[in-house]
Amino acid sequence: MSEAKIQIKNLYKIFGKNPKGAMEHVKNGVGKDELLEKHNHVLGLKDINLDIHAQSVQVVMGLSGSGKSTLIRHINRLIEPTDGSVTVDGDEVLKMNEEELRSFRRSKTAMVFQRFALLPHKTVLQNTIFGLHIQNISEEDANKSALRWIERVGLSGYEDKYPQHLSGGMQQRVGLARALTNDGDILLMDEAFSALDPLIRKDMQDILLELQDELHKTVVFITHDLDEALKIGDRIAILKDGIMDQEGIPAEILLNPKTKYVKDFVEDVNRARVIKAKHIMSEINGQDLSGAMPIDQDDFIDRFIDKVISDKPDNLIIQDKDKKNVGFLSTKKLSEILKR
Ligand SMILES: Nc1ncnc2c1ncn2[C@@H]1O[C@H](COP(=O)(O)OP(=O)(O)OP(=O)(O)O)[C@@H](O)[C@H]1O
Ligand SMILES: [Mg+2]
Repeated sequence: MSEAKIQIKNLYKIFGKNPKGAMEHVKNGVGKDELLEKHNHVLGLKDINLDIHAQSVQVVMGLSGSGKSTLIRHINRLIEPTDGSVTVDGDEVLKMNEEELRSFRRSKTAMVFQRFALLPHKTVLQNTIFGLHIQNISEEDANKSALRWIERVGLSGYEDKYPQHLSGGMQQRVGLARALTNDGDILLMDEAFSALDPLIRKDMQDILLELQDELHKTVVFITHDLDEALKIGDRIAILKDGIMDQEGIPAEILLNPKTKYVKDFVEDVNRARVIKAKHIMSEINGQDLSGAMPIDQDDFIDRFIDKVISDKPDNLIIQDKDKKNVGFLSTKKLSEILKR
């Protein structure tokens, strides 16, 4: 069985009067601009293939209009595709009937949007549990669960306040608390932090990572901010004009951008902060390891670079957490990677 929790296969979405008819043009290589100009249809997504691994954070990035929201909305079938398939835990989402779909959305997924719309006449607590179908538990237990998540997102003391008393950042926290109270194992976050001030945004990112450490949800996280993508994502998919230009772990995308678009995105990134020793090591293969400096495979370059500069070893020996040697890296290669 595949490890993918969510599997997206050959997914196409075309907006317009006759999407199926427009498919032929798209399959023949007509791009987004031409499809609009000549055929009056909008290319939303073209032939997207993506395996989203259980318990990981999959980031989807791209400029405005590249198809990010269209893609995430296919996962819980808020949008019907023109062609292709989406499976979650092996179940074809497109084959679900209304009842199955309702139950799937309720029990497996939770969504947080850019501006989480709270009901003005309900308190934080009421908003957190509003509309949530919490199976087989009493209202008292539902409240207890909600209160726990309200605390975890840093809103203790605000349970009985109304939205008008909350800042935008606090409202997003309520959105997150609500998604967590929902308890599904898939979290769909569409630019959930994008409207926040930088410091509050950083706080929210930290809260999400901290919670993820504990909860291990499958998170699909949309952003147009590369720093956020690199910080949050286990893997990153980059969309352009409805096409997935590249998908991979952050280090792969930084080291080997496949298109100019991706290259432009990653150009100014500080690589030392994103690349770990294990991403750039090679196999141990009879190299001379005398005097090699041991480095933890999960250390980012910027954690060990100062020591490399001061001690000047020729080689680094990369180790796992049990200090077993797992890879080799020459300082020459390290410096080339940092210079690129
Ligand atoms: N209902 C619709 N009808 C027609 N075109 C649509 C519809 N929804 C989306 N589109 C088009 O599909 C393309 C992808 O839109 P989408 O909202 O997925 O982009 P996005 O990457 O989420 O952008 P943003 O960063 O601005 O949120 C855009 O060209 C958009 O105009
Ligand atoms: Mg969007």
